[in-house]
Amino acid sequence: MTAHLIFDEPDDRNRLDSMAQDIIGRPIDRSEGALKVSGRAVYAAEQATSLWSEQRTDCLFGILVRATVARGRVTSLDTADALAVSGVREVLQDPRLVRHPAQGMARKAPPQEVTDVACFGQPIALVVADSFEAAREAARLVRVDYETAAAELDPASAPSDLPEKKQSSQGDLDAAMRDASVSLDVTYRTPSMAAAAMEPHAALAWWEGDRVTLCGAYQMVSQNAEELADALGIAPEKVRVLSPYIGGGFGSKLGIAPEAVAAAVAAERLGRPVMVPLTRQQEFEIAHRRSETEQRVRLALDADGLLTGIGHEARVSNQPGETFSEPVQQATHYTYRGEHRSIRHEVARVNLTCAGSVRAPGEAVGVTVLELAMDELAEKAGIDPVELRLRNIPECDPESGKPFSSHMLAEALREGADRFGWTSRRQRGRQREGEWLIGCGMAAAVRVNFLHKARVRVALSAEGLTIESSMTDIGTGTYTILTQIAAEMLGIPPERVTTRLGDTDLPEGSGSGGSIGAASNGSATYLACEEIRRQLASRLGCAEEDLTLKDGRATCGNRSHDLAELIHEPLVAEGFFEPGKAMGRVRSSTWGAHFAEVAVNEVTGEVRVRSMLGVFAAGRILNEKTARSQCIGGMTFGLGMALMEEMVHDGRHGHVVSRDLANYHIPTNADVPRIEVHFLHERDAYGGTLQAKGIGELGICGAGAAVLNAIHDACGVRVRELPATPDKIL
Ligand code: MOS
Repeated sequence: MTAHLIFDEPDDRNRLDSMAQDIIGRPIDRSEGALKVSGRAVYAAEQATSLWSEQRTDCLFGILVRATVARGRVTSLDTADALAVSGVREVLQDPRLVRHPAQGMARKAPPQEVTDVACFGQPIALVVADSFEAAREAARLVRVDYETAAAELDPASAPSDLPEKKQSSQGDLDAAMRDASVSLDVTYRTPSMAAAAMEPHAALAWWEGDRVTLCGAYQMVSQNAEELADALGIAPEKVRVLSPYIGGGFGSKLGIAPEAVAAAVAAERLGRPVMVPLTRQQEFEIAHRRSETEQRVRLALDADGLLTGIGHEARVSNQPGETFSEPVQQATHYTYRGEHRSIRHEVARVNLTCAGSVRAPGEAVGVTVLELAMDELAEKAGIDPVELRLRNIPECDPESGKPFSSHMLAEALREGADRFGWTSRRQRGRQREGEWLIGCGMAAAVRVNFLHKARVRVALSAEGLTIESSMTDIGTGTYTILTQIAAEMLGIPPERVTTRLGDTDLPEGSGSGGSIGAASNGSATYLACEEIRRQLASRLGCAEEDLTLKDGRATCGNRSHDLAELIHEPLVAEGFFEPGKAMGRVRSSTWGAHFAEVAVNEVTGEVRVRSMLGVFAAGRILNEKTARSQCIGGMTFGLGMALMEEMVHDGRHGHVVSRDLANYHIPTNADVPRIEVHFLHERDAYGGTLQAKGIGELGICGAGAAVLNAIHDACGVRVRELPATPDKIL
């Protein structure tokens, strides 16, 4: 049985709040946590050496050969030395290897012209050998001749285009700026950033007849299977993708990547399973980057401290022909009031690492810069920064006029200010401790909220409960929250629930991207469980609503049965959740507020973040612990964005200079202070059957601005070119 819901109407029944067990929301530990910390969870690169399947004991290893020019064409490949290395089987040149990663949810392989090199580091061949070491050694010995072409390496001067759908304007912003009682016109720059997931990409592929299995680390396996099929020119049913454990994706694993195609092509050719891992250096060169941005923000304020105009112009970059561009202004459309609005979005065409979705694409850098500008405006207008934001919250989406599905920004700002002691700290003013100047800052957190279609199968038997979907868990807690939802709905203790994810042979889940996972797949799980409840109720001769399922017992009126007595063979149901017309009627977003205290050393320019506080609203929180962990992670990214993250391309040749974790700085434990996270109670009727929204990406949005605003409060310096390294503070 499939319970199919097309989500055309909001759901405000709130029935989960009156369920018997209170399992949803509880901060229970990750159900796969013990496997991960004990090394029993097998990650992508470990597949080749694990005893998971006998199939893989005869696995070959492939290493991608990288281009060493930024633009041109390969004219010849001298493979003699590479082939002379003991254990080397073949150097493969196949046009299908040359592709960069597909963008998330593309369902199609990237369209890149296969004979051209479009950036430094682009794969051009694959060396296959009996061992990883031999393949790596031989890959260095392949000599490549190129016919080079002039490359565009500077996003600031490269030719650009203006994608029509990303421009918008209403009213007359220039006039609003002229008439404003206080106005601000300021430009900020953020650098290229890497996803920098802990687990590098790796793919193992093998063929059985005309069907290929790809075992790797991917966020959206059902879409990824279609992308691989498209790249190989075979039917999607002929591809199975397995991604049971993923060591962080952050966008870099949204689409299939070069190692996936290479492994599949080589495995077919050599008739053996082939494992292709990326080195950490290749991770920076091949996995897509977040585009650098140049952002001009214009704000016009009237005498009452109300915004009359907002302008947000962004220049980002990507390779020629790519359709993705960092959606910097995504939340600018609706965060603050003002009838005169202008958005300009320009994409420079460069021969640098392909740009794509990285850790809250858009808002991570867009909200951060908007919130930096708001802090500057508050200072200029002499209005408290929290108060300025509170005054400018719109009643409905200021561009479309649509109502918000729910709106919690004011609550988050007030709650955060209260918990942080904002008013008294600001009144006390800047503090000094020896060489250290102490200051505090704040920013709003805003992130669009999406739902996606998702299918989940649930089976209830006398032994327990099984949940199955191709949905993934990228370290975010999917295994755990789906377990909690089904346990709650069917009255089974979470320990007796088995959840299987990350396999395209299972019903098609949404995948993990854009914070869609929890609400979408959670809704599908809910629907499947509701169907099983109906089946149980009909066996008991009562209405589903009157059925109480708790501790493995079904109770209806004065009758109570052990579930095992009622179930002779497993009850199986699929839930299919499809976003319908409901979401189109509203603007759906998640909300929050960041507060930070920093110490700035006036001698060295060093910044130490002393504390961070985030208050967030994202509908029903499904697990306090996994949700909190994601917010802490996002706020840590924000700290990194403010102080250290910077991917540097060499301006002469286009290679990535900071292409390892020693040179690409991300926060380590010693950099991260106590981070406090508080959730607001919220139920969003537009959040699927759970009234939940995505939380994975909210924590980063604006977090860096709170840190940078605190730096200004401490020492009076506005860093408008991120990150705020000591040289920019002094
Ligand atoms: Mo996310 S950047 O959509 O994985």
